[in-house]
Amino acid sequence: MANIIIIGTQWGDEGKGKIVDLYSHEADVIVRFQGGNNAGHTLVTNNEKTILHLIPSGILHDHKTCILGSGMVINPEVLIEEIERLAERNLPHPNTTLHISDSAHLIMPYHVRIDNAREAKMRSGKIGTTGRGIGPAYEDKVSRTGIRICDLLNEEIFNQKLKNNIEEKNHLLTNYFGEEPVDFDEISNKYSVWADRLRPYCGNTSILIERSVKAGKHILFEGAQGTHLDIDHGTYPFVTSSSTVAGNACSGAGVGPTQISAVIGICKAYTTRVGSGPFVTELSDETGQKLQEKGKEFGSTTGRKRRCGWLDMVMVRQSVRLSGITGIALTKIDVLTGLDKIKICTGYRIGKGKDREEIVDYVPSDIKVIGQCKPVYEELPGWSEDISTARSIDELPQAARRFIERIEEITDTKVLLVSVGPGRNETVVIRNPFRLIK
Ligand code: IMP
Repeated sequence: MANIIIIGTQWGDEGKGKIVDLYSHEADVIVRFQGGNNAGHTLVTNNEKTILHLIPSGILHDHKTCILGSGMVINPEVLIEEIERLAERNLPHPNTTLHISDSAHLIMPYHVRIDNAREAKMRSGKIGTTGRGIGPAYEDKVSRTGIRICDLLNEEIFNQKLKNNIEEKNHLLTNYFGEEPVDFDEISNKYSVWADRLRPYCGNTSILIERSVKAGKHILFEGAQGTHLDIDHGTYPFVTSSSTVAGNACSGAGVGPTQISAVIGICKAYTTRVGSGPFVTELSDETGQKLQEKGKEFGSTTGRKRRCGWLDMVMVRQSVRLSGITGIALTKIDVLTGLDKIKICTGYRIGKGKDREEIVDYVPSDIKVIGQCKPVYEELPGWSEDISTARSIDELPQAARRFIERIEEITDTKVLLVSVGPGRNETVVIRNPFRLIK
C-alpha cells in the first residue's frame, strides 16, 4: 500500500490537477480533504478540457473511489452541477464511485453573500477571495454554528439550524453590510431538493478510508490551494480559510498520520499568485507578462489574471519543511523555454541600507516584513529547444537538467516528475512514488 499526500508548495495553481490525474492511474482511492469550490483543476484528456472544482480528478478514471472528505466545505449546487456535467459525458465509469463525508460543512447562500459584501467593504485591504463563501463557511464551522451534510439529510434539523443562522446572518447582511436579507423558504426549498439528490453519496468516509487502508489499497490525498495560502502558515491574512499543509490531510480525511507513506509537493517552475498579498519575486516587466501569457495564467475558478514571478525557492523550501515533502513534481518547465537566463530566488534581503541588511532563508511571518523583502537571485542558463516531446530526463537540454538539479539541491528533496506540457503524456517520469513504496 502507498498512501500519498499531494499538496501545492506555492500559492496554489501549481498544476496539481494534471499530477493528481496522472497519479490517480496508480491510486485506488482519491480523497479531497480541505477547501471547496475555490479550487479548480484543469485537466486535458484526449484534447478535451475538464475543470473540476470539488470532485477529485480520479472521477475521470475507472475503478476508483473518489471521496470528498470532512475537512471540506461543500456548495451542494456546485457539486450537483459538476455531477451532472460529468453524467453528460457518461462519467463516472461503472466501477468508479463518489462519496461525500456526512461531516463536511455546507456552503450556504449567505456565506457567498457575506464573502462578497466583506470584500467590497474592505476596498484596498481586500483579500481578493474567490467569492465562493469559503471563509464565512469555515467561520461558522469554527464557531460551531455551521450546517453539515448530515444536517442536510435531516429536514427538521436542517430547517432549525437554517432558521437560527438566518437570524444572525440577515442582521449582519442588512445592518452592517447594507445588503438585502436572504429568504428562509427559498433556501430551505432548494436545499431540500439538493439533499435528495446528494443523499445516495453521503456517509462516513473515514470508515471507507480505514477499510481501504486495511485492504492494502493505494490512497491519494489531493490537496487544494497551496502551502502559502495555509491559514496558519501562509501569508496571513492573504490566505484561504483552511489548512493546506500535508498534516491536514489526516485531519480533513479522518485518517491517522501513521498511515501516510509519502508527501509529494507540486512546484511550478515559476511563481504565481491570484488575489492580493506580498509576492517577493513578482515581475511587473515583460518577462512577467511572457510567463503569464505563455503559461496561460488565468484562474480556472475566477478567470482572473495570475500575477507572475521567478521561482521562489525560499517559499518552496519552507513548504518542504512544513509538510515533510518527500518528493517534488515540477510543473510547467516548458513555459521557461526561450528565456536567455532563468532566475531562482534563494534568499530574502531584509532591512534598509547595506549595514543593516540581513539575508534570511525563510518566509517571515509578518506580511509587512515580507513586503519589504528583496529577492536574492541565482541566475541559471536558459534553453531554447522545444522540450514538450521529452519523455526521459536525458532528452532534456543540459540547462533544464541543471535547473532541476538545483531545485533538488536547495530543497534536499528529489524531483520525481517533470511536466513539459499540459497533456497527460507530456511528462518526464523520473521516479514513480507508488512503485517506490511497498
Ligand atoms: P478564498 O479561498 O476564496 O477565501 O480566497 C482567499 C485567497 O486564496 C485569495 O487570494 C484567493 O485568490 C486564493 N485562492 C483560493 N483558492 C485558490 C486556488 O485554488 N488557487 C489559487 N489561489 C486560490
